[in-house]
Amino acid sequence: MNIFRRSIFLYVFLNMIFSPLMALAEETPKVETDKYTSSVVCGKCHEHIYNRWKDSIHAHAMDDPIFNTAYNLAYRKTSGAAKNICLPCHAPTVRFTGDFDEKLPITKEGVSCDFCHTVKAVDLKASDPYIKEIGLVKRGPFKDGKDLKGKHEIAFSELHKTAEFCAGCHEYKSQNGVSIIGTYGEWKEGPYPAKGKQCQDCHMPAIMGQIVAGSDAGPKRTINEHNLLGGHSLMQLKKAIDVKVININVGEARTEVMVDISNMGSGHRVPTGTPTRRLILNVELSGAEGRVFREKIAYEKILADMDGRELKDESEVMLGGPMQILKDNRLKPGETRREVFTFYATGAKLKNVTAWVDYVYSPFILDRTTMQLEMARDSMAVR
Ligand code: HEC
Ligand code: HEC
Ligand code: HEC
Ligand code: HEC
Ligand code: HEC
Repeated sequence: MNIFRRSIFLYVFLNMIFSPLMALAEETPKVETDKYTSSVVCGKCHEHIYNRWKDSIHAHAMDDPIFNTAYNLAYRKTSGAAKNICLPCHAPTVRFTGDFDEKLPITKEGVSCDFCHTVKAVDLKASDPYIKEIGLVKRGPFKDGKDLKGKHEIAFSELHKTAEFCAGCHEYKSQNGVSIIGTYGEWKEGPYPAKGKQCQDCHMPAIMGQIVAGSDAGPKRTINEHNLLGGHSLMQLKKAIDVKVININVGEARTEVMVDISNMGSGHRVPTGTPTRRLILNVELSGAEGRVFREKIAYEKILADMDGRELKDESEVMLGGPMQILKDNRLKPGETRREVFTFYATGAKLKNVTAWVDYVYSPFILDRTTMQLEMARDSMAVR
């Protein structure tokens, strides 16, 4: 037998022994009974959902460079105490495992499948709002979940369809009760709760699809997209804001321009979340010989320490020490605000007014980095 034939033989022989074993291992991804299961395991069956989740900010809550920069700085400033503050939201499995030193692989998975799907109740007044039951039971939105033949058990959870489920992380107050992240509270004060519009309706839109891949796939039913697009998505940002030039009044000594800016698509204030985000409404009046006059307004929340020093850096803000609000003129959900801009320019040669809105986000990634996206634009001829 030459070497070639022997290796073929070996290959066939080994394949006969190992393939069935490997196939067995492949066919039954193991859901843990007494600890968190890795999202990779959930993804073996829930392929579509896993593929969406793995690109989400939730999956990167522990390795996104903006978080990492802030976390490292906060960690140094507090000689390590920051881990007890930051990880319960960015790596929420530590609420159960206590793995604040990031030794377990599950900690690195950030906001993972099994964290969310083993939450049984939420108590927003408790120091840890998430009441968990780790194990075989996965909680979700179906009243008619099918028999899983022991792969895992399921329980219907109304909670998973409500904003309260998200609130445990998307609401954060400083030691003296100042709102740092107020997304849930902003939603609650707006028009959407009365309309029955929860966070999930905008951030986890339903599509028809297969909940599990392969031979277990049942008929198509609705699945919720798990990529949770927010301020890092231009598509989502464009839905949020509208701008309209309403009127141009050319007077004797100056020109007044009236502009409406509306938060027509966002469920909370714009901007929301960590307070390093701003909206800028720019208005430009063009005159003769290419002359351009420009005015602008910023919509933002500015936090400061008790001495009035502005807190610009997430590594400071998110530690949640005593603070105060210096300014908060962000646009409420559903709100239209009318702004009047005065230009000291007048005469017959004025041509055009353009208004546009930029979203400006300047977090630290080693150095301060600025992201700027245009959200809306409108123009009007002067006459
Ligand atoms: C061996 C395959 C398999 C694995 C692994 C698996 N699931 Fe499932 N899961 C299913 C099947 C099958 C269904 C039922 C689909 C249906 O009802 O159409 C399901 C349903 C669900 C539901 C819906 C429950 C409801 O009633 O609303 C959730 C939530 C869920 N799984 C979460 C998870 C999580 C989290 C993991 C990882 C810890 C996981 N699954 C791992 C097969 C699996
Ligand atoms: C931030 C929390 C969160 C994470 C992380 C998360 N889910 Fe979900 N998942 C939900 C919520 C909330 C719903 C229900 C949405 C609704 O019905 O409005 C849901 C629904 C589901 C369902 C039922 C079908 C559907 O899409 O409605 C399955 C199955 C599921 N998730 C599996 C997973 C798997 C697998 C992962 C990880 C790859 C995962 N989830 C990660 C919160 C989460
Ligand atoms: C266990 C805590 C936790 C839960 C529960 C949770 N989130 Fe998040 N979420 C986070 C963290 C942390 C981030 C930011 C991660 C980062 O950027 O490092 C985030 C980011 C987001 C973003 C992306 C923001 C952006 O800038 O693009 C959206 C949108 C979002 N979450 C919506 C939701 C919704 C809707 C729910 C409820 C269905 C939910 N989250 C539940 C912790 C959580
Ligand atoms: C009516 C639809 C709608 C609802 C309801 C809604 N959102 Fe949003 N959300 C948006 C849009 C549009 C954006 C992008 C513009 C912006 O930053 O506000 C967004 C942005 C975000 C961001 C990113 C913030 C940033 O600046 O990067 C987070 C986080 C978020 N939403 C969480 C939530 C949570 C949590 C809830 C429920 C309490 C919720 N959203 C309810 C539409 C909605
Ligand atoms: C109560 C939960 C909670 C705690 C505690 C928390 N975060 Fe976050 N963090 C969030 C959520 C939710 C977001 C999502 C984005 C938003 O709402 O703007 C976020 C976003 C961020 C961002 C922006 C990331 C990006 O990609 O834009 C940074 C940086 C950050 N957190 C750092 C920290 C640090 C450092 C700590 C600890 C000192 C900390 N966070 C503690 C919930 C929390």
